[in-house]
Amino acid sequence: MKKVLILAGGLGKRMNSPRPKVVHEVLGKPLINWTIDAAREAKVDEIGVVLGNNAGLVYPVIPNDVKIFIQKSQVGTADAVKAAKDFLDGKVVILYGDVPLISSKTILSLFESKADMTILTATFEEPFGYGRIVRENGEVVRIVEENDATDDIRKIKEINSGIYAFESQSLIYALERIRNENKKGEYYLTDAVEVLLKGGYVVKTVETDNPLSVIGVNTQRELAALMKNVKENINNALMDLGVTIEDPETTFIGPDVVIRPGAVLKPFTFIYGKSKVSSNAVIGPQTTIVDCTVGNNSLVIKSDCTNAIIGDNCSIGPFSRLRPGAFIEDNVKIGNYVEVKNSHLSKGVKAQHLTYLGDATIGEDTNIGAGTITCNYDGVRKNKTLIGKNVFVGSNTSLVAPITVGDGALIGAGSTITDDVPAYALALGRARQVNKEEWVLKKRRGISDEK
Ligand code: UD1
Ligand code: CA
Repeated sequence: MKKVLILAGGLGKRMNSPRPKVVHEVLGKPLINWTIDAAREAKVDEIGVVLGNNAGLVYPVIPNDVKIFIQKSQVGTADAVKAAKDFLDGKVVILYGDVPLISSKTILSLFESKADMTILTATFEEPFGYGRIVRENGEVVRIVEENDATDDIRKIKEINSGIYAFESQSLIYALERIRNENKKGEYYLTDAVEVLLKGGYVVKTVETDNPLSVIGVNTQRELAALMKNVKENINNALMDLGVTIEDPETTFIGPDVVIRPGAVLKPFTFIYGKSKVSSNAVIGPQTTIVDCTVGNNSLVIKSDCTNAIIGDNCSIGPFSRLRPGAFIEDNVKIGNYVEVKNSHLSKGVKAQHLTYLGDATIGEDTNIGAGTITCNYDGVRKNKTLIGKNVFVGSNTSLVAPITVGDGALIGAGSTITDDVPAYALALGRARQVNKEEWVLKKRRGISDEK
């Protein structure tokens, strides 16, 4: 049985933030999810997380298959593990929720280790803030926290990553014996080293060859520094793969995004979530894409898209907004100030200006005139608008849903459409124009006559 337990119950005081530390995002992904995904990638049998008294704010980002344990009061990392005592069984790897870049490969290698406790360490040129690995005759004898360290110990550059593998039995033995006699008055999991050695257990260290992967986040500055680092690595990897990034400084790509070679990312572009961008797509400048698919040769310019699917050869923007459920087939054009929500736009649809399409299904090659609005909400329910193929919707049309417009129909500009339109019909839903000859002149004369 391979289990991973992630400690994320701490108050994160040094963040000075009203939100729990582990929900702060790095490239659009909460810290805790980086760690959970690394554990998932290592294909462990079970993942548990320990949350604290602000758990309510963390629940929403925890996937359903992850077991949640609650630590009632935040009195240290050893106490946090205790809160998940029932979870401990066989070999357990402990991860910290604020050490997000740990790799699945490292997690797997820790499961292979044969000791009662194996500590993952790293050598940092600037070890400030980390627990230091104290050795005697080359063997680890204890971990000393920054707060409790003497000047000599502070000079040690080998640090505790906060990542360990334990035999559960040995861990439980240590948890029962750890005391809180330190500057912070907390129960430190790091004290397991001394407790286990005293009890005749085997404690080992493994040094990571990738120090970046064990950086911890305790402050807002550290969060920003880590983001900068990761962002650079992701951008470099994409460029090596054949993606053009015009300005890596202002381009932010999440870790779970897939971008195909030949795609071009223009400055100030943000692509997050599980987005996929196909070959020769051009994204940006000034575009945000979250959880979207963008097809081959499609352009998305100065736009904001969330949870949308965009086909091949489409042109989106500038200033378009695609909201969740926008399903855009190939060769569609969506222009400035057009918002699409939960709607299916078939091949060749054009909606180029100032339009809202919500809860609509639109057939092939239909043209949506400027200023068209689907009135999908009647104050109680969201209603559907069904528009057929080759329809021409004149400018400034209101389509009061639920409503169906048949294939090939033509709607006169400025119409308010409240009844279904049959196929190939002309629908006019406005008052007829009246011209009153010379009315203005007469009015003027009227005024001067009065004088
Ligand atoms: C900890 C380690 C330190 C190590 C560093 C690596 C201890 C005592 N110290 O220090 O040796 O170098 O991480 O980044 O373990 N947590 C709880 N409940 C608590 C306290 C903390 O769940 O009561 C969680 C936090 O949410 C966090 C993790 O444990 O994810 C580490 O806690 P934190 O207070 O950040 O420890 P550090 O001071 O960074
Ligand atoms: Ca920390």
